[in-house]
Amino acid sequence: MSRRSDPRPELFDKITSLAKRRGFVFPSSEIYGGAGATWDFGPLGVELKNNVKRSWWRAMTQLRDDVVGIDGAILMHPRVWEASGHVENFVDPLIECGSCRKRYRIDELPDGDALMVRWRAGALDSSGMPCPSCNEKRLSQPRKFNLMFKTFVGPVEDSASVAWLRPETAQSIYVDFENVQQSMRRKLPFGIAQIGKAFRNEITPGNFIFRSREFEQMEMQYFCHPSQAGALFDQWKGVRKAWHRALGTPEEWLRFRDHAMDERAHYAAAATDIEFRFPFGWKELEGIHNRTDYDLKRHAECSGKNIEYFDDERKEHYVPNVVETSVGADRATFAVLCAAYDEEPDKEGTRVVLRFTPELAPYKVAILPLSKKPELSGLAGEVWAKVRPHVMSTYDETQAIGRRYRRQDEIGTPLCVTVDFDSLTDRQVTIRERDSMAQVRIPIDELVPTLKAKLRG
Ligand code: GAP
Repeated sequence: MSRRSDPRPELFDKITSLAKRRGFVFPSSEIYGGAGATWDFGPLGVELKNNVKRSWWRAMTQLRDDVVGIDGAILMHPRVWEASGHVENFVDPLIECGSCRKRYRIDELPDGDALMVRWRAGALDSSGMPCPSCNEKRLSQPRKFNLMFKTFVGPVEDSASVAWLRPETAQSIYVDFENVQQSMRRKLPFGIAQIGKAFRNEITPGNFIFRSREFEQMEMQYFCHPSQAGALFDQWKGVRKAWHRALGTPEEWLRFRDHAMDERAHYAAAATDIEFRFPFGWKELEGIHNRTDYDLKRHAECSGKNIEYFDDERKEHYVPNVVETSVGADRATFAVLCAAYDEEPDKEGTRVVLRFTPELAPYKVAILPLSKKPELSGLAGEVWAKVRPHVMSTYDETQAIGRRYRRQDEIGTPLCVTVDFDSLTDRQVTIRERDSMAQVRIPIDELVPTLKAKLRG
């Protein structure tokens, strides 16, 4: 595999163009000029993202006996967001250039991390700073911009009917903690996992699906005794990095970045990002946080409901502490696209291959009759009918076979099955592997178990 450990800036253009051309991701509402950093997943993109989500769900719930799942509502009681601190604090500092009108989050400006520290301390004066775009020194003072989308429930648009599109899925997990713990008769420590949509009115969305205004999160809150939170935080760091590795991401494309004290939310005892080497640099892929008892305590205070847990082994009442893991499904999908993209020289110039693991590949198998002749189409259709109940597969009979192999390589299909004229008499077909391009011929009767074994690896 030629260049997998070498992310280059041009990779970004290659991936975004392939994603559009081959039906992974389209700009939303494109015929109207787009809809501001929202994206539609096309036929292959929805398969890929569903596979990422399925892998996360399986690893976090099905394969563990200490985590259960929920699917909470997007619209919640507005006081949830007051309790969580989002109404007051879920803000980005926005600076606008008085000359060219360009808007920036402070952290995007040169030396942004240091500027953020000064802003948090209330000591940032941006008046003498040059605009990175036009160089004029006419930047405004930072102003707080709340990232939540506001809407109204019911026919009247007044302050009593305000609702927010959730900016994270985590809050329904906190709010449902007691319902889940009691209905499922869980003892601490245990976790609650959720996959769902989240919405943020980002000031500067961009970098394709890396930062959009509507996205999906895969979040898990692990509830525990306060004395366990530190060790569990370290454990979850390892578990989550191993999951990214199992998706096929090379070790050297992942790293941890621990948050400094002045960068963390005041209630977080520890926070780390799993960063991925995107084509535009190292950026957050997943966040892992030790959120102490902050969220449950705040919901207890604001709702008036006692959310204490009675630990019958310790004979102790306490508010559980929470270790959170939070990763964007869209961002994780983008990361696996980047990690899978590969090019290698071949007779026709360059072979582009998405080296997805079989678990992630949108199609696992492509059935390819050597020609469009009706006698071959008949047998190839019969072969596809055998295969499709077992694995996600596709069928393609247009253009030369070499072109069709390349097309499947480019969308990451691990195996192609070719039906040729000999197949009509010997009832055998050829399996061609994407990565090695090796070919083996096997009886049609053995095809399904052979494909399954090859996909298991
Ligand atoms: N509940 C904690 C939380 O939401 P976060 O760091 O704000 O923490 C967690 O978000 C993850 O959600 C990020 O690591 C990223 O993968 C994803 N994410 C956040 N904002 C996003 C956006 N605007 N577009 C796409 N993904 C986003």
